[in-house]
Amino acid sequence: MSAVPRAVAPSPAEAALVLLGTGVVGNALLTLLATPAASRLNLVGVANSKRQVVNPRGVVPSRVAAQLQEVVPGRDDASLLAALDASGAARRIVIDATASADEAARHADWLAAGYHVVSANKAATGESLAAWQALQQAGRRGGASYGDAATVGAGLPVLSTLRRLRECGDRLLALDGVFSGSLSWLFNQFDGSRPFSALLREARASGFTEPDPRIDLGGADVARKLLILARTAGHALDVADVEVESLVPPALRGIGLDEFLARLEEFDETLEQRRRSAAADGKRLRFLARLDERGHARVGLTEVEPAHPAARLAGTDNLFALTTHRYRAQPLVIQGAGAGPEVTAQALLGDALIQAAARV
Ligand SMILES: NC(=O)c1ccc[n+]([C@@H]2O[C@H](COP(=O)([O-])OP(=O)(O)OC[C@H]3O[C@@H](n4cnc5c(N)ncnc54)[C@H](OP(=O)(O)O)[C@@H]3O)[C@@H](O)[C@H]2O)c1
Repeated sequence: MSAVPRAVAPSPAEAALVLLGTGVVGNALLTLLATPAASRLNLVGVANSKRQVVNPRGVVPSRVAAQLQEVVPGRDDASLLAALDASGAARRIVIDATASADEAARHADWLAAGYHVVSANKAATGESLAAWQALQQAGRRGGASYGDAATVGAGLPVLSTLRRLRECGDRLLALDGVFSGSLSWLFNQFDGSRPFSALLREARASGFTEPDPRIDLGGADVARKLLILARTAGHALDVADVEVESLVPPALRGIGLDEFLARLEEFDETLEQRRRSAAADGKRLRFLARLDERGHARVGLTEVEPAHPAARLAGTDNLFALTTHRYRAQPLVIQGAGAGPEVTAQALLGDALIQAAARV
C-alpha cells in the first residue's frame, strides 16, 4: 500500500510572548515579530506605560499601534501573564523593552514562576548586587532563563562570548572598552580642532546623546554595563565597587537642563588641558570602562596608546577587548554599533528564539 501524503499541519507556535514597552526598541521588535524569523513565536500581549492589548490566541504585531490607541487606558501585568498561561504554548516569555525600575523589580518573580525573561532593561542586572543574586536564584527555582544580550552593546555578542569562554575554562585577565556610543563619538572627534562643547552640541543635535547629555557624561550607564559584564565574569561587585569618573563639572550637576545647555563651554578648559597632556605623550583620550583580573572596575577618561584598539574607533562604535588566559598575546575584540533600535530589537528576538528552541 502506498503512503498517502498527508497535509502538513502548520506547526504551533513554540513559545508565547508578551512585550512590555512600545518605544524605540519595542517598536523595532514589533517590526521583527512580523517577519518569518519570528514564526515560532506567538505574541499574546503588548503594553506601554498606560495601555495594553491582550489576546491569548495572538496579537498581530502590525496592528498593535492602532489597537493601543483604541483600548481603554489601563495596565496590569497579571492579565498579560494570564494570556501567556492561556496560550497553551510550552514556553512563556516576557520581553522587557522599558527602562522601568518597577518592571525590572518583577523579573525575579516571573522567573521564579517559570516565565522566561528577555530584557533590554538594565535595571535588574546592572543595579544592586542583591537584585542580581535574586535573579540567579529565581531562575534556578523556576527553571527559567534570562536573556540579557540587549543590555550590553545592544546585542553585540559580548555576554555570550564571555560565558562561553568561562564554560571552556578560560579566565578573564582584563576587559576594557568603550561602552557608550555618544562618548565614543565625542572622543573619536576630539582632536583639538573644535572645542568639546561644540562637539557636544553637535552630538546632541544628531541624537547621539540622551536629551540631557549629563546622563551619558556622568558615566552611570557605562558603569551599569561594566557591572553586568563583571558579574557575568564571576565578580560579585556592587554599584559602589565601580569607580566612576563623571565628566560633568560639579557646578553643572544640580542645575536645570536649559541652564546646563547654555553653559557647555565650562567643559572646555579642563578637557582641552587633558587632551593636550595626553597628546604630548603621543596618546589619545578615550572614555574607557575597565575590569581587571582581581575585579577592580573603573569607568572614566583614560589616555590610550595609538595602538590601543579604542584609539582606532570611528563613529559611535562600541568596543569590548577581552584579554583572557587563552587570548593573552592579543585581546579578543568585539566592535560594532552598541546602540540603535534595530540591533537592540534583534538581540531581544534572538534571545526569545533561544527560549523557543530550548527543550521543555
Ligand atoms: N535605544 C537603544 O538603542 C537601546 C539600546 C540598548 C538598550 N536599550 C534599552 O532598551 C530599553 C528601551 O529603550 P527605548 O529607547 O525603546 O526607550 P523609549 O523609547 O523611552 O521606550 C520606553 C517604553 O517603555 C514603556 N514603559 C514604561 N514603563 C512601562 C511599564 N511599566 N509597562 C510597560 N511599558 C512601559 C514606555 O511607555 P510609554 O510609551 O507609555 O511612555 C515606552 O513605550 C531601555 O531600558 C534602554 O536602556 C535601548
